[in-house]
Amino acid sequence: MSDQAYSAEERAAVYRAIAERRDMRHFSGGSVAPELLTRLLEAAHQAPSVGLMQPWRFIRITDRALRATIQTQVEAERIRTAEALGERADDFMKLKVEGINDCAEVLVAALMDDREKHIFGRRTLPEMDLASLSCAIQNMWLAARAEGLGMGWVSLFEPQALADLLGMPEGAKPLAILCLGPVTEFYPVPMLVMEGWGKERPLDEMLFQNQWGVGQ
Ligand SMILES: Cc1cc2nc3c(=O)[nH]c(=O)nc-3n(C[C@H](O)[C@H](O)[C@H](O)COP(=O)(O)O)c2cc1C
Repeated sequence: MSDQAYSAEERAAVYRAIAERRDMRHFSGGSVAPELLTRLLEAAHQAPSVGLMQPWRFIRITDRALRATIQTQVEAERIRTAEALGERADDFMKLKVEGINDCAEVLVAALMDDREKHIFGRRTLPEMDLASLSCAIQNMWLAARAEGLGMGWVSLFEPQALADLLGMPEGAKPLAILCLGPVTEFYPVPMLVMEGWGKERPLDEMLFQNQWGVGQ
């Protein structure tokens, strides 16, 4: 054990938050105290980012009419997704894929504009900006779980329509509608597993040694 390690109790708390974080779509209304929301956003903002680019931008949606319009955009995309799914359309339409109307807070997470100026770490992999924003969202997701709040990542929307709705500059791109707030209980396993949509595969199917496809 490294002498830089946290205590056993602290380590257990970190792994517990990782294991018990769930993508939540069922919320119990309520509210998030301002200082708690700030803590969660600070957690997001401490994420690693390519070349220290910090490409994340968050828009807190406090206007109920705007929230309703966002939900309408998501609903339209949910239907287009079902159409694209073909024979799984009916099963998909039975799933709950967002909790925009019921959650305490809605935050839209977006990539900033002018990203092409940032070359460090992105010359061959421009999508590292997206990876950095994802790290920020994951920080917030884990912190929210530790605080007892649920969070859901909704990606069923037309990015340009949402960007236009929120007055984003050219080049900025929304990547997530984050639903955040109190929940009655956390799903014990991913909701898509509970609903029979899919199964989780074990790590050993994804871990290779030296060459792709060669197991340990
Ligand atoms: C990038 C990303 C986008 C996602 N978009 C949606 C979404 O639009 N709607 C939804 O219901 N879940 C969405 N999810 C949640 C996944 O379905 C969920 O993470 C997965 O089923 C595993 O469940 P868990 O997060 O509870 O472990 C998204 C997750 C990620 C990481």
